Amino acid sequence: MKEYNIAVIAGDGVGPEIISEGIKVLDAVADLGGIKINYEKYPHGAEHYIKTGEILPDKVINELKDFKAIYFGSVGDPRVAPSILEVGLVLKIRFELDQYINLRPIKLYPNVESPLKNSNGIDFYVVRENTEDFYNGMGAILRTNGSKVQKHTSMLSMKRTMYNSNISVTSELGMADDYGLNIGIITSRGAERAIRYAFKLAEQKGKKKVTSVDKYNVLPHIYGIWREAFEKVSKEYPEVDVEYSFVDAIAMWFVKDPAKFDVVVAPNLFGDIITDLAAGITGGLGFAAGANINPTGVSMFEPIHGSAPKYKGLNVVNPIATILSGCLLLENIGELELGHLVEEAVKQTLIEGHIRTKDMGGTSSTTEMGEAIAAKIYEMGDRK
Ligand code: IPM
Ligand code: MN
Repeated sequence: MKEYNIAVIAGDGVGPEIISEGIKVLDAVADLGGIKINYEKYPHGAEHYIKTGEILPDKVINELKDFKAIYFGSVGDPRVAPSILEVGLVLKIRFELDQYINLRPIKLYPNVESPLKNSNGIDFYVVRENTEDFYNGMGAILRTNGSKVQKHTSMLSMKRTMYNSNISVTSELGMADDYGLNIGIITSRGAERAIRYAFKLAEQKGKKKVTSVDKYNVLPHIYGIWREAFEKVSKEYPEVDVEYSFVDAIAMWFVKDPAKFDVVVAPNLFGDIITDLAAGITGGLGFAAGANINPTGVSMFEPIHGSAPKYKGLNVVNPIATILSGCLLLENIGELELGHLVEEAVKQTLIEGHIRTKDMGGTSSTTEMGEAIAAKIYEMGDRK
């Protein structure tokens, strides 16, 4: 029997509730498919941080490298200042494991209501570059303490598996004020590998067109490198159509005519923003799945949404985003058929429409939705 070892970080807020439904569904499909999934749970997140002061030690990062995949719920808690867990935990895993792709399928499932009038045929992918851009953390706060001119030298560094770069910024500040500074970086190699993944995905999924997102008209340096990379890689795929869109324009098109997209490839920060928008047009964050992928390493599967602290423990949120992230996990470990079965079970459950969570205007619980989908998997398996 094939066995897979999966690390589980359920995290904070509704994380544990959605992950336990995700695991129920994975177990159902594993049972049918004759595979075994072993889960190793990690306690990291807000509670663990408050108790121990530990966010995510390097020792754990090294352990994570030995798993087949990571299944992740959500982190974030009102008792912990924003950015501590985001940077120290989520981004640390993405960067240290070099998960340079953030893959987010954007699909409107049957019987799910979109706020758009024109919502027919929404079915595309956003490939978000996941290690560079303004997410690199290179920045400083420069204080002048009220004096007119202040000189500062800040050493900013960024370490990735591909490079270790230091940039020194010398500033002479001509105004008695405080300055916030962040340096975004895109490297040609970093952009090319993400863009190449997007073109390969288009080929694999039979999609015709890849749309590049940037803001080249205003930030021609950082997004100039992005464009150069896009132009270069697109030449390797002459059979795939290409399109360029500024990020503001694509936000408008996601609302106006979302069916026109096939594969959208975006730098990190814009990719973050437009995928929440994309979730919004496909029924909300309860349906939005994601995968942080290192194509030659260990990948992490997580819903796009956060920990929703106000719903913690209430058993009301929609676990479908997490269940569909599990479906991406199955695909990634090579269990394509089982992944497909999970998606079909989600679809069938939605079509039948008896179980509807609060976000869908219903009263079903998180558990009821997870159990309905797991039951549907068995039912569909029996019919085969
Ligand atoms: C996401 C989240 C993360 C991001 C945070 C939690 C670091 O918003 O996965 O989209 O900004 O990438
Ligand atoms: Mn986000």
